[in-house]
Amino acid sequence: MHVFDKISGLQDFLTLQRNANASIGFVPTMGALHAGHISLVEAALADNDIVVCSIFVNPTQFNNQGDLDNYPRTLGEDIRKLKSAGCHAVFVPAVEEMYPEPDTRKFDFGNLENVMEGEFRPGHFNGVGQVVSKLFDIVKPHKAYFGQKDFQQLAVIRKLAKLINSPVEVVGCPTMREEGGLAMSSRNLRLSPQERQDALLLFNALKKARQMADKRQSPDAIRQEVQSIFDASDKVRLEYFEIADSETLQPIADWKNAKESTACIAAWLNDVRLIDNMTLFP
Ligand code: PAF
Repeated sequence: MHVFDKISGLQDFLTLQRNANASIGFVPTMGALHAGHISLVEAALADNDIVVCSIFVNPTQFNNQGDLDNYPRTLGEDIRKLKSAGCHAVFVPAVEEMYPEPDTRKFDFGNLENVMEGEFRPGHFNGVGQVVSKLFDIVKPHKAYFGQKDFQQLAVIRKLAKLINSPVEVVGCPTMREEGGLAMSSRNLRLSPQERQDALLLFNALKKARQMADKRQSPDAIRQEVQSIFDASDKVRLEYFEIADSETLQPIADWKNAKESTACIAAWLNDVRLIDNMTLFP
């Protein structure tokens, strides 16, 4: 596996691949790789001749300095995992390589960014837009792979691809879960064994939401039930729970005209913030 820390080295390699008519799959990450990331690499390997992964903890998408400082970094282990997964190249740029000048671009993701993550993490999606647009421009992949755990991010990236006229096909891949149901996340590395147990509350609340939706209980009744589940916990603090239209991401008031909806949740265990989601079938 090739490891590049400069854009020029990566692009020389990719030009050779393109000249040989190879299709290029791309998996952007912030490292601290787990089985969920490796499943993206595997999906990319199944669809493309060449797979490139990037590992870059993007400062512009963190709205909290502590979260950026504490974000897990496990580069040696990440490279080992990518190599054994069969990834062809990894791009590990320094901040100065990605941002030789401050990026002042502002993206308009419309209503997608005014709810849930957008509401609670101001500026986050703009930072994601900045780095992903640069990465798409550098790698020029045919297809790019993102996890559905970051459900709202996936919608924002699809919108971004349209905004910047990128021909890349954005592929969403299923959330991978630990035994017990905790969604795999790099941030799980920051949880103690006890916190991992406590974190199951997110998955359990989503399952409860799905059971209630299956019985056509109203979205408000579900919201109240989930709130009361978290009110009863002194370990996990609910930041938001929402039932959103899977396409527009706007909150659902009733099931009347709902096509497909997704229950989305964000909660804190001490200073670690976790998100998860589950499709509901109205
Ligand atoms: O999902 C992530 O890991 C990041 O938000 C991404 C898409 C790699 C951009 O930094």
